[in-house]
Amino acid sequence: MSKTVLVTGGTRGIGRAISETMVKKGYKVAANYAGNDAAAKECAEALGINVYKFDVADYDAVGAGLAQIEKDLGPVDVVINNAGVTRDAPFHKMSLDQWQQVIDIDLTSAFNVTRQVWDGMRERNWGRVINISSINGQKGQFGQANYSAAKAGLIGMSKALAQEGAKKGITVNTVCPGYIDTEMVQAVPEKVLEGIIASIPVGRLGKAEEIASMCAYLASDEAAFITGATMTVNGAQYITG
Ligand code: CAA
Repeated sequence: MSKTVLVTGGTRGIGRAISETMVKKGYKVAANYAGNDAAAKECAEALGINVYKFDVADYDAVGAGLAQIEKDLGPVDVVINNAGVTRDAPFHKMSLDQWQQVIDIDLTSAFNVTRQVWDGMRERNWGRVINISSINGQKGQFGQANYSAAKAGLIGMSKALAQEGAKKGITVNTVCPGYIDTEMVQAVPEKVLEGIIASIPVGRLGKAEEIASMCAYLASDEAAFITGATMTVNGAQYITG
């Protein structure tokens, strides 16, 4: 029987590409989203999948969303914690609200979702957790103290959970995309973005599909021995051991 995958933030950007790739691989896909109903509707129709609107920063809302997904599609076997936002500002201008929103949506969300599927994965002795971090969680980024902290937090969380899940057939890995051609990156001021592209040895932004194929691999049975890993997909913009 085909497995069920939940992709948070799964109707736009990198998340949408992940949803599409997982559909093509034969998974039952639940794509979560927070606010953009029009994009979610378009995604649901184009991919023929169910979309679920809930706030990943809200533990109880996640619980209700997961209950509905499990009712519709069965227990969640693969979680891809992809939902995230930016609230960029130099630290001397960053408000508590800008800090808190990013920590809640980009990091605490991974707790809210993973914690509520974890017991089921342990019981079934199989699971995949894939946390979508960022190059900026690895190297830090001017104007992103909040985002870099949240994305670095996902790497630490994955490394700890990988050890806890290992005996139960659950792998936990992090994918660190570089600058990918999505609305989030296109929102970076043009002059700044030009400089960023110039610093990517491959000479271009990444494609969302290039992140999705990594996720599909990590979700597969072939990747059973890869756990606690940080997979860097950034066109050699930041090379780390
Ligand atoms: N390094 C060093 N100095 C920098 C800098 C950098 N990267 N960026 C800006 N500065 C300097 C400016 O030159 C300026 O210096 P002066 O005051 O001496 O002139 C100072 O910082 C303040 O700059 P601004 O007045 O432009 O400040 P701002 O408040 O308008 O905006 C910013 C600053 C928000 C950080 C803006 O530069 C920006 O958006 N940068 C892009 C940040 C970025 O890369 N975000 C990634 C988004 S995509 C993403 O996050 C996806 C992913 O995972 C990769």
